Formats: sequence, structure tokens, C-alpha cells
Amino acid sequence: MHTFTDHYQNEVNLSFTIHPFSSEPKHVWVICRYQDKWLLTAHSRRGLEFPGGKVEKGETAEEAAIREVKEETGGHVSSIQYIGQYKVSGRGKTIIKSIYFAEIAELIKQPTYYETNGPVLLSSLPKEVAHDRRFSFIMKDDVLLHSLTYIREKLKFVNI
Ligand code: GTP
Repeated sequence: MHTFTDHYQNEVNLSFTIHPFSSEPKHVWVICRYQDKWLLTAHSRRGLEFPGGKVEKGETAEEAAIREVKEETGGHVSSIQYIGQYKVSGRGKTIIKSIYFAEIAELIKQPTYYETNGPVLLSSLPKEVAHDRRFSFIMKDDVLLHSLTYIREKLKFVNI
């Protein structure tokens, strides 16, 4: 278990085991690869981030993950896997979010990207994301760092 604070000083607990906090998380976050690049979305308020959002009634977390990728980037998921989960204990509110790693087969232009300005492809992520104003706060804590390490070392996804 990893414990640290986020950009807003909320406590974050992160674990790469099967559903350490909830088997029915209400939030998902999807680290996406498309043609050897990272696929992010440009959230209109928060900035660049991997797609994600809330699990809707009647859908599983994985279904939500696939839907959010499509809505926010136009990406069609060809493979997806759960990698871990984190809990953010904020003032008054605690959220639990499952993390997925997805490979994207194609990008299809959408009529709307909801609260975002659509897809953004990056060859690499900057080392100093935390100090880069283009990026959303959800990219600015150790969830991203640990998740990338997990993808590289445990999934043996070497070319990142
Ligand atoms: P609405 O119900 O749509 O208004 O959403 P909300 O503004 O209440 O946000 P949400 O329920 O998505 O998240 C509540 C709080 O949890 C946010 O204000 C953040 O502080 C925190 N939060 C949500 N997602 C993340 C995340 O991925 N990382 C971190 N560190 N905090 C998060």
C-alpha cells in the first residue's frame, strides 16, 4: 500500500491488488496508449489528464472505463485491464477510483467530448507534471508515477 498526499493535501491510499477498497468503485481512471503514444483528454477546467469519470447506474466499472474513453477522446478500446485502485480522503468526501490500462485501436471523431475538448496525444509525459500548468491536478500526485511503474514492470509494457 502506498500512502501520500495529493495536490490539494488530501490523503491518498493506493494499492495494486484486487479491489483493496471497494469491489464496486464509483470512479474510474484509464491510462491509455494509442499508436505508441499516451492518449489523454483536455478537460476544459482541469487541463490534460487521462480520461475517466463516474460509474453510472447499471454499468460495471470496466464498462464505465470503456465508455469514458470513448466520450472524452473518441478512442475505441481494444484491450483493457484493471491495474489498481486508490482512495482519496477529502474534507467531507471520500472517493474510490479504479485504475485501468487500455490500448486503443482507433480514434473516432465525436460530435461532443462532454466536459472536455477531446483527445490529446503525447509521445512522452513530462518528468515535472506536478509543476506543469497544462496538466490536471489528478495527474499531479504519485498515483501516476506508481501506475506507470506498474505498467512498465508488472505488465512488461517496455516501450514507454
Ligand atoms: P460532481 O458530483 O460531479 O459535482 O463531482 P465532484 O466535484 O463532487 O467531484 P468528484 O465526486 O468527482 O470528486 C470529489 C473530490 O474528490 C474532488 O473535488 C477531488 O478533490 C477528489 N478527486 C476526484 N478524483 C480525484 C483523483 O483522481 N485524484 C485526486 N487526488 N483527487 C480526486
